[in-house]
Amino acid sequence: MSKPGIKIKATELRVGMRIQRLGGSWMQHPFLRGRFILEDPADIQRIIDAGIQEVWISDGGDTTMNATLDDDALGMEAADVLAPPMVAEPVAAPPPAVAPAVARPKPARSMELDVERARKVCHNARDQVANMFQQARLGKAIDTQATLPLVDAIQAEVQRNASAILSVARLKAHDDYTYMHSVAVCALMLALARQLNLDEEQTRLAGIGGLTHDLGKMFVPLEILNKPARLSNEEFEVMKLHPAAGAKALADSQATPAAIDIALHHHEKVNGRGYPHALKGDEISLLARMGAVCDVYDAVTSIRAYKKPWDPAMSIREMARWDGDFDKRVFNAFVKSVGIYPVGSLVKLASNRLAVVVEQGGDSLLHPKVRVFFSLRSNEPIQANTLDLAAPGCKDSIVGPEDPERWGFKNLELLWQ
Ligand SMILES: [Fe+2]
Repeated sequence: MSKPGIKIKATELRVGMRIQRLGGSWMQHPFLRGRFILEDPADIQRIIDAGIQEVWISDGGDTTMNATLDDDALGMEAADVLAPPMVAEPVAAPPPAVAPAVARPKPARSMELDVERARKVCHNARDQVANMFQQARLGKAIDTQATLPLVDAIQAEVQRNASAILSVARLKAHDDYTYMHSVAVCALMLALARQLNLDEEQTRLAGIGGLTHDLGKMFVPLEILNKPARLSNEEFEVMKLHPAAGAKALADSQATPAAIDIALHHHEKVNGRGYPHALKGDEISLLARMGAVCDVYDAVTSIRAYKKPWDPAMSIREMARWDGDFDKRVFNAFVKSVGIYPVGSLVKLASNRLAVVVEQGGDSLLHPKVRVFFSLRSNEPIQANTLDLAAPGCKDSIVGPEDPERWGFKNLELLWQ
């Protein structure tokens, strides 16, 4: 096992030092994880600019400054994040076929700020939904109109940067799944309503309906609701009672007909194979058809105790193949609202590199901003680099989505958060 080296502050770095390891996740900074000798003074500033505060240098380096040995310092290696072997030395420049958007990537400040703000809104919304749902579980009436300020706050984030809030809402902890799922479906419904050009009133109803669509799950026994495995057929039959239970609780609370309708019919399918009423086509209201798409997308892309999340772009591709489950017009608008390659998707580029989508590309669904981080030629991580596929002169493009599971990549969200 290699020696851990000496830990110093990044501000104490000097040219000539032999770097053993940089603090933080390698994916968050422009350097490769690995060892290298500091030869360029500009690299010191790049390390500081990347937000790296601690650096481990080898014993042979300059040790005159105030340094401390830290045997536990190696902690989690990048190998814990990415399964493929890490390189020990910096790797050469990206393949020549690619024209990087920037030579020295700067963090996308506005996206970072939007994600941070969206995270606060989502967590606040999750807590309010949890409160409301627990009131329902206790048999108390709930006030869906009281969620309006919350819906407006989520709507403001959707309008500011839909990708930011939709990506944040996709990330859930096991114990708050149902609440965060409600927030996510609310945000998806609002983004979809905008895409469908619904008026302000219908958009609000869609948002409220997203928040309350799964209220009935509060009446499902906890051992079924929180079961960390797939449900048996009998358990699934119990779970299928939640639309009617939610609709009844909403009706008892004098909720709007739209909220009741979305709760009751968000598991209907336009081909008539849904539940509880096996409605077909236009027998299902537009808001309930919207709820069906948003609900399924969020469910399949979320982490659950018994399944890995599907990659967002793979989910879009898969859902497009399901014959007759969704209203085609609604589904197409949904794809336009989240993107063919939603933020967080792992994609393969024509330059034989892997990247994660970090921002939607304005008018072009096929040309988002991506963070390139892995070379398929060398089968190794490379210097993470943000590339705007819609930028004039950019010669690279997306070949298709990739399954993160196949590559053993974990925590890809570190690349866009
Ligand atoms: Fe549901």
